[in-house]
Amino acid sequence: MRTPARVVSRREACRRIVAVTTTSAATSVAPRRWTTADDDLARAAAADDAASFYAEWSYSKPSDVVPYVERFAARGDPASVLRAYDDFGARFPSYKLGAEKAKLYGDELAAIDPTTVIEIGTFLGYSAIATAMRFARDEARLLCVEYEERHAEVARWAVEYAGLADKVTVLTRAGSEAVGEAKAFVESIKGVGAGTDVLFLDHAKERYLPDLKLYEDAGVVRRGTTVIADNVVYPGAPGYLEYVDTAAKRYETRLIDAMFEYDQVWKKDWKGTPKDALSVSVRL
Ligand SMILES: C[S@@+](CC[C@H](N)C(=O)[O-])C[C@H]1O[C@@H](n2cnc3c(N)ncnc32)[C@H](O)[C@@H]1O
Repeated sequence: MRTPARVVSRREACRRIVAVTTTSAATSVAPRRWTTADDDLARAAAADDAASFYAEWSYSKPSDVVPYVERFAARGDPASVLRAYDDFGARFPSYKLGAEKAKLYGDELAAIDPTTVIEIGTFLGYSAIATAMRFARDEARLLCVEYEERHAEVARWAVEYAGLADKVTVLTRAGSEAVGEAKAFVESIKGVGAGTDVLFLDHAKERYLPDLKLYEDAGVVRRGTTVIADNVVYPGAPGYLEYVDTAAKRYETRLIDAMFEYDQVWKKDWKGTPKDALSVSVRL
């Protein structure tokens, strides 16, 4: 008869592995060799962890993430909300920026020190929280444009739970329909005729280029604006990189390499995480 699997969380399994390694190092004993028994333990831990996770949590609509965040993240602590999103997103399909890119993107924001950021494509608010938590200026504000109401309402909830509601506004709108509101948002903070400091593109890939042109034509993107775009290598945004290429003399552009953010191991034809990049383009 099969012994019932003991529920060992992924974290506990990792702690045990670290404990074996660090104990060995501290006592100068040669590290124990990793054995197939350890493999079995790790596999069982992962399977048990997954089974207990799915027994407790389901995901059939965006708002299903809310009780998970409430359980595992502290109100008013944005980093804990992002960690809860990452843990939930490791088990269910999720289209968030992810920890690696959020760090890279956040470092760019810190260097720019923006007063206004406009984001197109907000999903459940992960990158919105990652943005607002990096604001250094009290007056800094983020305008999010997300066209699916069921995403936008969770994003609003998450931003409020993270304690960032006074810094972030989420519009339910297509990027192409929010140009006027984006212009008014920037001008209300920076004055008439000003452009946004940052435009972040993370929505439908085929809309990056046409929407960027709309924001340029309206003067929301102008000389000095930094446009940061996700997924420009994988899956790629048609025509976008050619348009912002430094050689075309509209923008000065560099790419920041990062792995594609969605863990898609549940897909039958999954072949590993592809390489991707964020592009950072300063309007000339
Ligand atoms: C990749 S997800 C965004 C992830 C988000 N930035 C984050 O890090 O959590 C793309 C989102 O863009 C939204 N979207 C797609 N096309 C859009 C458009 N034309 N205008 C506004 N939002 C759009 C989708 O509904 C989806 O929520």
